Amino acid sequence: MALTKTQLARQIRGNLELLATGGVNELPVKLPPPPPAPSRGKPARAQAPTARPAVTTQPAAQVGRKPVIVASAALDELKQFEGPQARELEPVAEQVRVCGNCTLCETRTQTVFGTGDPRSPLMIVGEAPGGDEDARGIPFVGRAGKLLTDIIEKGMKYKREHVYICNVLKCRPPNNRNPEPAEIEACRGYLQRQIEIINPKVILAVGLFPAQWLTGRKLAIGKLRGQVYDAEGRKVIATYHPAYVLRNYTVDVRKKVHEDVLLAVEILGPGPLIK
Ligand code: URA
Repeated sequence: MALTKTQLARQIRGNLELLATGGVNELPVKLPPPPPAPSRGKPARAQAPTARPAVTTQPAAQVGRKPVIVASAALDELKQFEGPQARELEPVAEQVRVCGNCTLCETRTQTVFGTGDPRSPLMIVGEAPGGDEDARGIPFVGRAGKLLTDIIEKGMKYKREHVYICNVLKCRPPNNRNPEPAEIEACRGYLQRQIEIINPKVILAVGLFPAQWLTGRKLAIGKLRGQVYDAEGRKVIATYHPAYVLRNYTVDVRKKVHEDVLLAVEILGPGPLIK
């Protein structure tokens, strides 16, 4: 489907913003070919510059990083979806596929951009891919992912494939350590674009890092959960990370998660998310 002028303009703006997050502040401009070289014997004319300096400032190359660049499961999945959201997400997923913004690009098996229906009114944001996600290129496919699926399907009564799911970080931190602040910043533009393009009604942040990212508050997850925040017209709800729930499988923790996700259902309404 051809993009409208407005969609195209949004896509170009988004791509430029993404390049800027990667440190690219200039783009080469194609100028007309230079005038022919002066023939011998004639005085040399001042030569017009052939082009402004080309951008060679790929951060990865600049600092000697060697990003692992392989196919993207997300790009394949996006092709199955119709609508402007999928088309606008494709170039962002491509940027992520080749990203070298931080050192995680060297240790990843592949990037983990996001999964699910990009037309969804519900977006779930986790922290970072773990081992299973790094191996498959899809968020929340390990043990924590199984619990997240149960929360969506049994707790909220939605279908997982109707929800859009992604993470703050698109690459796995080695040994599943916590994301570093610099890594979160290096990845910020990608999640920002995903939110702008999908424009969900509700964002459910699972875990401390997405909760702080989305609410802009540096508080403990126990303080951030249990309420609805307004973020540029979208509703943000924070809850415990499924991996935390698995480690603390108490009635109290599970009840709190249930209460949090029901806040989202209250806003979205019951029934299929994608009709
Ligand atoms: N934990 C997360 O936060 N994200 C995943 O994708 C998997 C586990």
